[in-house]
Amino acid sequence: MHLSQRITNITGGGSDGWDLFNRARAMIAQGTEVTELTIGEHDIPTHPSILTAMHEAALGGHTGYAAVPGTDQLRETVAARLEAQTGVPTTAANVMITPGGQSALFASHMAVCDDGDVALYIDPYYATYPGTIRGVGAVPRPVAAHAENAFQPRAEDIEAAAVGAASLLINSPNNPTGVVYREDTLTRIGEVCQRHDMWLISDEVYDTQVWEGQHLSPRALPGMAERTLVVGSMSKSFAMTGSRCGWIAGPESAIDHLITLATHTTYGVPGYIQDASVFALTQGSDLEQEIAAPFRRRRVIAQDILARQNTVGLIPSQGAMYLMLDIRASGMTGEAFAGALLDAHHIAVMPGESFGSAAAGHVRVAMTIEDRAFARALATLCTFAESRAHETA
Ligand SMILES: Cc1ncc(COP(=O)(O)O)c(C=O)c1O
Repeated sequence: MHLSQRITNITGGGSDGWDLFNRARAMIAQGTEVTELTIGEHDIPTHPSILTAMHEAALGGHTGYAAVPGTDQLRETVAARLEAQTGVPTTAANVMITPGGQSALFASHMAVCDDGDVALYIDPYYATYPGTIRGVGAVPRPVAAHAENAFQPRAEDIEAAAVGAASLLINSPNNPTGVVYREDTLTRIGEVCQRHDMWLISDEVYDTQVWEGQHLSPRALPGMAERTLVVGSMSKSFAMTGSRCGWIAGPESAIDHLITLATHTTYGVPGYIQDASVFALTQGSDLEQEIAAPFRRRRVIAQDILARQNTVGLIPSQGAMYLMLDIRASGMTGEAFAGALLDAHHIAVMPGESFGSAAAGHVRVAMTIEDRAFARALATLCTFAESRAHETA
C-alpha cells in the first residue's frame, strides 16, 4: 500500500544520524559493557517532590481530558516565567502547553510554513530539526555556523540563505555544541528576520543550563515578540523527559491557531503532568540549580582533563549538557573516531557529522554519567586521540 511522501521522506532518504548510538545499544543488548555518552538524558530520575505532586494530582482526580491549550494554571505559570525572563508582557493567551519540546517544534513549523516553503535552521543542529521541517511539508535549508567562529552563527550567512524563507530555527543554549548565543549574535539574527519578514522559532529547552554568560531569549529583542515562537520544555530543566510536557509561547493569534491544531492532533497533555509541572516551576531556582548541578560539575572536570593535553580541543562549553570536542588533530572524521573509540574502548560518543556537516571532525559528549566514570571515559578518549594523532603524524 502507498504511504505518503510526507511520512516516508522525513529523514530525507539518508541516515537519521543515530547509527553509532544504535550500534552501541546493540552491543549492550549482547552483554558488552559500554560507557554511553550519547543521548541527552539525565542520570537522575525526576525529583521525588515532583513525583509526589504528580501522584497527588492523579489521586485527586486530575486524570480526565485536560483543556487542550493546557490548564489555566500552567499557562499562567509559564507566562509569568517568560515575562520575568524577557520583560515582554505575556499572558496565558500567549502560551500553549504541548507534549514536550519536540511536539512544540513540529507544531511551530506547522504554524508558519506552507507546503514547499523554505525553513532555515542552523547547522550543527539537534538531530530532529531537518526531519521536523520535512514532516510539515516544508523544505529544510541549513545555514552553517563554523567551528572557527566558535559555532556562533553569522548574520551574513543567514542573510544569504534568507531570500524567500518562511522561518529560521535557532537553539541557544545549543545542542550539540554547548554554545550560548551572544547578545550581538541574537540581535543581528533578529534584524535579518525583520528584513526578510521571517518567523523566528527559538528552541530554549536548555534555558536553565547556562554555565557562562546569560540566557537571552530573542523574544525580548526590539520588534521580535510579534514574530517569535519560543519552544520550552520541562524535560531538561526538571529531568522530566518521560513526562512529555513543554510549551510554545508567541503572539496570541498564532497560539489561537496552534490550539486548533492541537485539538486535531495531540488533544492536550495529561492534567496530573501539568499540575506537577506547575509545582516544579514554582519552586524557585534552587530545584532547577540542583538538577543542573551534575552537568555544571562535570563540565569543570572535563575542562581540567582537556587542559592537560593538546590533541583534543574543547569548543567553549557555555551551556547545555554536552561538550563538543574537536578531534581533527587525530586525523580522523568524527564518524571514524567515534566508531573506532567504540570498538577499542567501548565508549560511545556521537559523531559530529550526525548533527550536520558543520560539525565534521568533532564528536559530541553528553555529560550524563556519574562523575568518576565520566572523568575516566574522557581521559581515555584523549589518550586514544593522541595515539591516533601520533600514528598519522
Ligand atoms: C535542542 C533540543 N530541542 C528539543 C528537544 C526535545 O526535547 P523534549 O521533546 O523532551 O522536550 C531536545 C531533546 O534532546 C533538544 O536537545
